[in-house]
Amino acid sequence: MFFWNKKKVEQPILHSVEKPQEFNTYGLQDILHYIKREIGVDLFAKNSIIETKIKLFCERREIYSFRKLFESIHHDSILRQELIDLVTVNETYFYREEAQLELAVSFALAIKEVKILCAPCASGEEVYSLSMMLQEKGKDQYSFKITGIDINSEAIEKAQNGLFSERSLHKLEPRLKDKFFTCKDKNYSVKKEYFSSINFTKINIFDYDFLSIGKYDIIFSRNMLIYFDDEFRLKTIERFASLLKPEGKLFLGHADIIPDNSYFTKHSDHRLSYYIKN
Ligand SMILES: C[S@@+](CC[C@H](N)C(=O)[O-])C[C@H]1O[C@@H](n2cnc3c(N)ncnc32)[C@H](O)[C@@H]1O
Repeated sequence: MFFWNKKKVEQPILHSVEKPQEFNTYGLQDILHYIKREIGVDLFAKNSIIETKIKLFCERREIYSFRKLFESIHHDSILRQELIDLVTVNETYFYREEAQLELAVSFALAIKEVKILCAPCASGEEVYSLSMMLQEKGKDQYSFKITGIDINSEAIEKAQNGLFSERSLHKLEPRLKDKFFTCKDKNYSVKKEYFSSINFTKINIFDYDFLSIGKYDIIFSRNMLIYFDDEFRLKTIERFASLLKPEGKLFLGHADIIPDNSYFTKHSDHRLSYYIKN
């Protein structure tokens, strides 16, 4: 009788082989609707980029469907915040649109105890810039207060820590860097003694609490409304109108076009614009 030299066939050890989980993409639209409803950011036009981003976000957390993510963000506030941090764009830098900042500073100098709100402030550069400019013009720290708010928790943490990269300071002349920062390994740390009049808070401008953060002489809201649709732009400026003092001024970014409304009238000063409450 002839026997084959039977080789033992290797069987895969199932538990040691990672079978990639199939991702179920059903439910993305619900997530995008949720984000828009909660924070105003309209991501529908960027559908495919955002789909890839959120899918990766899910897989890193071993969540294998958009539906599951959608359910989880309703009860998991940490996951919800991480998702918001993922989808918000925090690009900013010191002395961004300097001429507009200077115009606001010229208004601020005329007010004895001026209160300024930056909503949103991202990682804080706008707030620090305004404070630096006011001090450069001789305004002492006891005669102004600047509040920065943003919904992105990582950005607010960075603003509070006051540690910035060289790129973020690229518009600053060396004298200002030396005066207001200490530099180590190409990272710039703000000198805290110059910034006792500023504070940062994580808040959603559509939260109920936002309306009780005080009354302001000047509100900056640059480069956030571009991510909203007209309905949310109107809701936002209605909220700003209720936070502004009667003679208050609102400064928007160049690309932040607002729909016709009864809250503000647009004014121009040497090709720079701002809004006054009606
Ligand atoms: C591009 S940054 C603008 C920062 C700064 N104002 C500037 O112009 O350099 C836009 C910021 O808007 C914030 N944002 C978006 N929706 C928000 C909301 N509903 N409440 C508060 N902040 C929001 C984002 O987290 C992001 O940091």
